[in-house]
Amino acid sequence: MATRVLSLTLNGRRHEGVAPDNMLLLDYLREVVGITGTKTGCDGGECGACTVLIDDQPVLSCLALATTCAGKRVDTVESLASDGRLSAIQRGFHEKLGAQCGACTPGFVMASEGLLRRNPDPTVDEIRTALGSNICRCTGYVKIIEAVRHAAMLLKQETAA
Ligand code: FES
Ligand code: FES
Repeated sequence: MATRVLSLTLNGRRHEGVAPDNMLLLDYLREVVGITGTKTGCDGGECGACTVLIDDQPVLSCLALATTCAGKRVDTVESLASDGRLSAIQRGFHEKLGAQCGACTPGFVMASEGLLRRNPDPTVDEIRTALGSNICRCTGYVKIIEAVRHAAMLLKQETAA
């Protein structure tokens, strides 16, 4: 299989690597780069656990080829905390108990982060729509929606401060 040199911005930093043409972004992140916050769930585009942001848009990394990210910005859950401080969306999930077993959480957090970047004050319906590709088997979703609403409020407070 042919390989390519890959140059992109990964979690805010310039990144260069080599990937086979057929390597999935999920496998590249976890096995080549060695960052494992992005989770494998169904491995088939059904659950959303592997969601990352590419140029701020949520993408299922189990369906995207690593080589298609050349020249783009890829953000994983590892990009969110800064100097040991949780980001607004991470605080939202933590403070509103939006995670239980945690298997789905990085995917929900990144899909929610993408939503808040596009729409910092989403309605409940807009949150439901944005998270429609993510599956959680534990929370019943109510706490997750509360977490995103809470994160939006925290973001507003941060902006006003
Ligand atoms: S692991 Fe990608 S959608 Fe389930
Ligand atoms: S918290 Fe367990 S699957 Fe969502």
